[in-house]
Amino acid sequence: MTNPGIIRRASLDDLDRIVELEKKCFQDNLSYSRRQLRYLLTKANSTFLVETYEETVRGFIIILYKKGTTVAGVETVDVDPNHQKQGIGLHLLKEAEEEMKNKGIKKIRLEVSTTNLAAIALYKKAGFRTFVLLKNYYLYNHQGSRDAVRMIKNLH
Ligand SMILES: CC(C)(COP(=O)(O)OP(=O)(O)OC[C@H]1O[C@@H](n2cnc3c(N)ncnc32)[C@H](O)[C@@H]1OP(=O)(O)O)[C@@H](O)C(=O)NCCC(=O)NCCS
Repeated sequence: MTNPGIIRRASLDDLDRIVELEKKCFQDNLSYSRRQLRYLLTKANSTFLVETYEETVRGFIIILYKKGTTVAGVETVDVDPNHQKQGIGLHLLKEAEEEMKNKGIKKIRLEVSTTNLAAIALYKKAGFRTFVLLKNYYLYNHQGSRDAVRMIKNLH
């Protein structure tokens, strides 16, 4: 890994940069809005981490928890396109896993578009396995739909 960064909890001061990264990472209408990201950061039952190097946020990860279950979900992992393929996505996932273990989470679940080969490769490398194909999981306004795969990983 070049330039190993620091992973810390996201704060509201990071919101502008997080919104910017989300727009850079998802050019279609699947991206989270500023309002949704603010909610995920401040109100949701979540783990929201950022990776920083010399004060610059280069990536983030959002994990969501549901009351009464030991299953958590990866909402998204975003890494600045200028800093991808340097191990940042994997680093964020590993740190988030430690946090989930501390919270007693036993299983992680996520959905990812079948066309998102980089993300699927990242999750496989992190130990996830494909669980089920979800037809027409993502619906686009006037642009049809896209399939997704659900992937899972057991935490020990
Ligand atoms: C998916 C994403 C988070 C990966 O982040 P990253 O920091 O570039 O990933 P890493 O450098 O940690 O890569 C770890 C492993 O994932 C796989 N991988 C990552 N990017 C890949 C790519 N473009 N093509 C193929 N495999 C890839 C590789 O196995 C890699 O290991 P290797 O470098 O030893 O080959 C990043 O591409 C991204 O932000 N994409 C846009 C947002 C997105 O789609 N997020 C997922 C939402 S579900």
